[in-house]
Amino acid sequence: MVKATAPGKIILFGEHAVVYGRPAIAVPLSEVRATAVVEPNRQQGVQLIAPDLGVKKNLAETGPNDALALAVRQVQFAAGLAQLPDISITVTSDIPIASGLGSGAAICAAIIRALAGYLGLAHLASSEWISSLTYEVEKIHHGTPSGIDNTVVTYERPVYFIRQQPDNLIETFDIARPLRLLVADTGVRSSTKDVVDDVRRSWQADRRRFERIFDACGEIAVAARAAIEMGDMVQIARLMSANQALLVDMTVSSPELNRLVAVSLNAGALGAKLSGAGRGGNMIALVNSEKEEAVHSALIGAGSRSVLRSVIG
Ligand code: PMV
Repeated sequence: MVKATAPGKIILFGEHAVVYGRPAIAVPLSEVRATAVVEPNRQQGVQLIAPDLGVKKNLAETGPNDALALAVRQVQFAAGLAQLPDISITVTSDIPIASGLGSGAAICAAIIRALAGYLGLAHLASSEWISSLTYEVEKIHHGTPSGIDNTVVTYERPVYFIRQQPDNLIETFDIARPLRLLVADTGVRSSTKDVVDDVRRSWQADRRRFERIFDACGEIAVAARAAIEMGDMVQIARLMSANQALLVDMTVSSPELNRLVAVSLNAGALGAKLSGAGRGGNMIALVNSEKEEAVHSALIGAGSRSVLRSVIG
């Protein structure tokens, strides 16, 4: 039996603009994780089991866009295996789905890591390899993913990321002072692909305006990295609010997200913004330890479905 896990993720700065080649910063959310267990099985073929989703199916019966099957086939293809042994792959996850926390990438990375381990492919299974296979699955699912999700969930380190050819720029960096974050769920599910497609249509309709917005997001990500490396909380918070204003301009925020951002700031958060694709999903609030409880209660009181606590760095 081989078990592997991968964490959720938070985009701290630069979502959407990262798809257009601007820098972005993401960190792992280690408090929530996806887990994959690969075991020998008496039944023929590969059984894919996701108890939380009520899924139990044979790989041979899956369609071409099945995310779990795609992860398995990526490993099979990359390793050049004509056939897989008779196994079951059981996937569980406490990362909320369709809410900007990288659940899809984490599930995929956990499957790839566990299956590679089971098949004795340790020599192949570097973080880079797992990340690139996860990216292939994300492409089939999301259309034009930047690559930041698969990178942060496989490396499980804070990353400064630029989507570029021929290879993405991926830099890990130090966090001088821990970032205390509350991650609040609007409870509204949102499809990353739909929001990314919508931003693309807006960009096509008014490239000059959107390029300016993306440039400003990129400048914020550069400044934010410096502020995080220096532990300048005031500057980090200011940049979060500036990034949120640009995400509102992109039309990817929502009344629920705006409300949770406002509620957290009123309760004493240093800075707040949506995280991920937007139009629903989660927002993040940067807090200090004195105000953490007050902001937590305010977010719960304002109807957040859940509020996770995370200390980054
Ligand atoms: O909603 P999520 O967690 O899949 O994050 C999407 C981040 C985007 O920048 C909007 C898209 C991307 O591929 O980077």
